[in-house]
Amino acid sequence: MSKIKDRSLAEQGRRKIEWAESRMPVLMKLRSVHSEAKTLSGLRISGCLHVTKETAVLVETFRAAGAEVAWCGCNPLSTQDDVAAGLDAAGVEIFAWKGLSQEEYYWCIEQTLKLRPTLTLDDGADLVTTVHTKLKEHLLGIQGGTEETTTGVHRLKAMARDGKLRYPIVAVNDAETKSDFDNVYGTGQSALDGVIRATNVLFAGKNVVVAGYGHCGRGVSAKARGLGANVIVTEVDPIRALRARMDGYTVMRMKEAAGVGDIFVTVTGNRDVITAEHYPLMKDGAILANAGHFNVEFSLEDLRAMAKGRRVVRPENEEYVLPNGNRVYALADGRLVNLAAAEGHPSEVMDMSFANQFLSVLRLAKEGRNMAPEVHEIPRSQDEEIARLKLESMGISIDRMTGGQEKYLQGWSEGTG
Ligand code: ADE
Repeated sequence: MSKIKDRSLAEQGRRKIEWAESRMPVLMKLRSVHSEAKTLSGLRISGCLHVTKETAVLVETFRAAGAEVAWCGCNPLSTQDDVAAGLDAAGVEIFAWKGLSQEEYYWCIEQTLKLRPTLTLDDGADLVTTVHTKLKEHLLGIQGGTEETTTGVHRLKAMARDGKLRYPIVAVNDAETKSDFDNVYGTGQSALDGVIRATNVLFAGKNVVVAGYGHCGRGVSAKARGLGANVIVTEVDPIRALRARMDGYTVMRMKEAAGVGDIFVTVTGNRDVITAEHYPLMKDGAILANAGHFNVEFSLEDLRAMAKGRRVVRPENEEYVLPNGNRVYALADGRLVNLAAAEGHPSEVMDMSFANQFLSVLRLAKEGRNMAPEVHEIPRSQDEEIARLKLESMGISIDRMTGGQEKYLQGWSEGTG
């Protein structure tokens, strides 16, 4: 029996899901192929991934292909309650609502495991770690899992290194058609969308400090520049810092950036990027947002400990008064701003991420039992298939190599002419 916030939102949720379907042609094509063949029948999937309209399209694609599914969100603030109601009304077992406490969050994960999954689908690895620590009795029945995000892949690789991972995981995140698009264009747009919905602040003319210049940081920086902001990047990796500089951004330490930034967006995947040493340096009115997976990148704990006062000024926007009288604004309690204050990445880009999820589940259904309990890459052929389908859906044709060109690239004998 599902647990959601409000069943009366089902109709609104269904309209959102239909909207997403109309913008996810690759996943819908996979649905039409595999729903006839019922390729996934007999499989039981426990999923822990943001409950958005795009995720709903993925869930319904699994069901159309014959799988049984139980679902929960992977972040206490990211569930769209109308979408959860829409899924519930369609008969999906779903345990998700916006504003979960930590206890409720893990309760929801545990409910999805009552399905006795044969496969898991995770975003951030909280479900996989729950199975490996608290509910180990499920391990025997699970033949594999997928992981959606960079942070989750890091955690699962650490588990594998420690010899603790007990079933194979496909790193969906690391597909090129995922991380080069979802992480870059998706996070770039949706993180700014979240900041804008929570503040309605003008980006033009602002100093936007982007902490971290991985895929997500590149996307956020590019979109902020596109809106007319002056972008400052902070990094710990010398190669990424150099890339940021040569992409035309100013690079400095956070200690220096703290005093000049108007808007801070953390996307490092690490903790304690902005802490008690930085807050007193900030300008009055500075805005703090996080688009990394966990709410540890700017320290809310430090901010709360030092603040003289705090109040909610708008949805997902809390004002903190510092001892020096300056006010800083923390968005979405430091949780993923793009999902907590906006709707997550647009459907068009999730189309590729979730086509990768679907094809990875298909692979695990066929081969999972014979795969080592490690983190596995997705095959190049899958990336290329998804890119081709996406291009086709956009009406774009590309060139093909001639036989002579293929031979040239494979050989070594032709040199300076
Ligand atoms: N992660 C980022 N955006 C998302 C979306 N729209 N749906 C599911 N997961 C997401």
